[in-house]
Amino acid sequence: MRDGGRLPVELIRSKRDGEALSADELRGFIAGVTDGSIPDYQVAAMLMAIYFRGMTDGELAAWADAMVRSGDVLDLSAIARAKVDKHSTGGVGDKISIPLAPAVAACGVAVPMVSGRGLGHTGGTLDKLESIPGFRVDLDVARFTALVGELGVCLIGQTSRVAPADKRLYALRDVTGTIESIPLIASSIMSKKLAEGIDGLVLDCKVGTGAFMKDAERARALCTAIRAIGHAAGKRVTCVLTDMDAPIGKAVGNALEIAESIDVMRGGGPADTRELTVVLGGEMLCLAGVAATADEGQARIAHALDDGSALAVFRRVVAAQGGNPEVCERTAEVLPQAAHRVPVLAPRDGVIAAVDAEDVGMAALVLGAGRRTKDDVIDPGAGIVLAAGLGDRVRAGQPLAELHHNLGPDDPRVAAARGRFLGAIHLAETAPPPRTTRILEIMRS
Ligand code: URA
Repeated sequence: MRDGGRLPVELIRSKRDGEALSADELRGFIAGVTDGSIPDYQVAAMLMAIYFRGMTDGELAAWADAMVRSGDVLDLSAIARAKVDKHSTGGVGDKISIPLAPAVAACGVAVPMVSGRGLGHTGGTLDKLESIPGFRVDLDVARFTALVGELGVCLIGQTSRVAPADKRLYALRDVTGTIESIPLIASSIMSKKLAEGIDGLVLDCKVGTGAFMKDAERARALCTAIRAIGHAAGKRVTCVLTDMDAPIGKAVGNALEIAESIDVMRGGGPADTRELTVVLGGEMLCLAGVAATADEGQARIAHALDDGSALAVFRRVVAAQGGNPEVCERTAEVLPQAAHRVPVLAPRDGVIAAVDAEDVGMAALVLGAGRRTKDDVIDPGAGIVLAAGLGDRVRAGQPLAELHHNLGPDDPRVAAARGRFLGAIHLAETAPPPRTTRILEIMRS
């Protein structure tokens, strides 16, 4: 706490009683979080007070800015191109960053992408990339900056020097019931994104059963808070609300999702996976100022997927980050494959009325594709490939999916994954209204 300022306990009391704190007070508090001078019990009490009382836009901007400044902020000013990133709040089968980042770079925008790992039912881009033999996500800042300059894109993990205040706050939120607070989620996400030295950000805010935000109203509130933080920092932010009621694409699991991403970069892939890549990429091109309209941006991304230029950038990125670039051509030979593929059959006739994304993610996790705790080791070849999707009519005995695993034939986890997967599939007599798009709403700068 700064000399002459109010004590942490006084700030907690004020917040508890619904009073706004000054920017200096919030900065002082975050400084105490970062250097450890404010003990866990006072930080936790403040988090609970924020959970119940919320924050004004001014408070939120000061709190998030202090979190950004608690660690290193990348300086990418030497790169002349506009620098735009995309962040997803996390979904099942969400491999979009993998085709998206090279496609956007192929259109002339720099994408300095700092991604995360999967936890629980959601997958992480870093784990997917690491399923490419040799691929390294732990490059230092100098190499990262050089590759963003040279190739237009580099994908790495967060270092411990990025937003250390968030690390402590997140760990305390996790055990004090204060994760589900809009200002705390928004500042946590933005503290890490603003530290990347970007000019603009597209946020893919997932909504639905497989997402953090279960309904559109809360998703909108999160987007509003994220945009307020971005604008206060002088950044352009577009938020896209997208449907996460069913897994994205057909593949869930690390190497399986890389193969599906390569299909998208060959101009193919599932329609929803391509749509998300094209729409989010179009918004990134608009933020960067290289496309005048979303339609133009989307057309350019679609072209980069169809003419092979996105895949050519990806090939160079894989090689530069230590991976085997032949994954782009000899995909099935280069990527790790699971030893066993077990079909899951439809128990009866019906139409697939719902596919619970969270349950599918959990089934893949049980097979080894995800982590229960952050120290679990992932099996890169494990996962699930869907054989039927939302709205499909199936007959009893027809394959719904194939489980890919390296477990023993009698391992109880295979039966558990099958049970969890079957629980995710809701068969009905009549078809649900067809879903034509994953895009629910776009909130532009
Ligand atoms: N992702 C983050 O980085 N922080 C949160 O609080 C929630 C999701």
